[in-house]
Amino acid sequence: MSAMHKFIQALPKAELHLHLEGSMEPETLVEIDPALSLGEAQRMYRYADFAGFLASYVWAVRKLTEPKHYALIARRLLERLHQQNVLYAEITLSAGVILWRQQNLAEIYQALREEAAKSPVQVYWVFDSVRQFGVELAQTVAERAVEYAGDGVVAFGIGGDEEKGPAKWFHEVFAFTKRNGLRAVPHAGETVGPQSVWDALDLGADRIGHGIAAAQDEALMRHLRNANIPLEICISSNVCTGVVPSLRDHPVRRLYDAGVPIVLNSDDPPMFQTTLNGEYEIAARHFGFTENELRGLAANSFRYAFRYRQYPVPSNL
Ligand code: HPA
Ligand code: ZN
Repeated sequence: MSAMHKFIQALPKAELHLHLEGSMEPETLVEIDPALSLGEAQRMYRYADFAGFLASYVWAVRKLTEPKHYALIARRLLERLHQQNVLYAEITLSAGVILWRQQNLAEIYQALREEAAKSPVQVYWVFDSVRQFGVELAQTVAERAVEYAGDGVVAFGIGGDEEKGPAKWFHEVFAFTKRNGLRAVPHAGETVGPQSVWDALDLGADRIGHGIAAAQDEALMRHLRNANIPLEICISSNVCTGVVPSLRDHPVRRLYDAGVPIVLNSDDPPMFQTTLNGEYEIAARHFGFTENELRGLAANSFRYAFRYRQYPVPSNL
């Protein structure tokens, strides 16, 4: 283990942008669907572009047909987070896909809560809907999220395709969730330009999923800095889905140097052949983040967590 690897492993961390259904290892997919070969599962985790990724994500989610499948993938995920010294996680559940498939969200969420209660990782949940599936589904997800607001759900989000599901559709949905005490975490500025981030801010975003397009807009970077709204940065995700042409082109350093608050995250780790520690390591090796800067980013992961105040911020940060 290199010294940098050891340093990152030892850092206490929080994970704030992580999709439960995108966290399945190919081996777990095969366990859930024995008709699938490991090679097939691994091939499904390679894509040429963002549309290819979304298609694979939906393909993987469709393998989950029972609450016990959700419990299994949560258990595996929480084990891996604990191994990486992740103390706290806000995990996104694609509740929109569950409801769209007419599955029993109450049973699934109950199974997830039971798994989370057994883990040493402190877990909260973000319910998200899929932009291009429209506003009606989003409103239904929002209502279910509010129903569980006292029971582990801390935020509502939208993911999927920014181009096919513009923010303006979702104003009333976010107004409803915010009125009911949930925080707002839309994905935005991932595949579309800075206007999409401005539009997400109009929704009342408390954090932005990705938001890397902000690097193209000085006024937007200034605004994020002054309003103290962080971007949930997922470097490997952006490279694997082709939304940045190559690792070198990723704006993480530019955003950081402009004073934009950022947090490092893994998004859908096995789908992008990464881990949270791997993301910190990429920041160090490819973008020159020093140990002090990495410590600051780990501190950010607690600072921008919605419930971190209930726990002491780790003293070595
Ligand atoms: N962006 C959009 N949709 C998604 C993502 C993402 O990062 N992960 C899972 N669904
Ligand atoms: Zn995401």
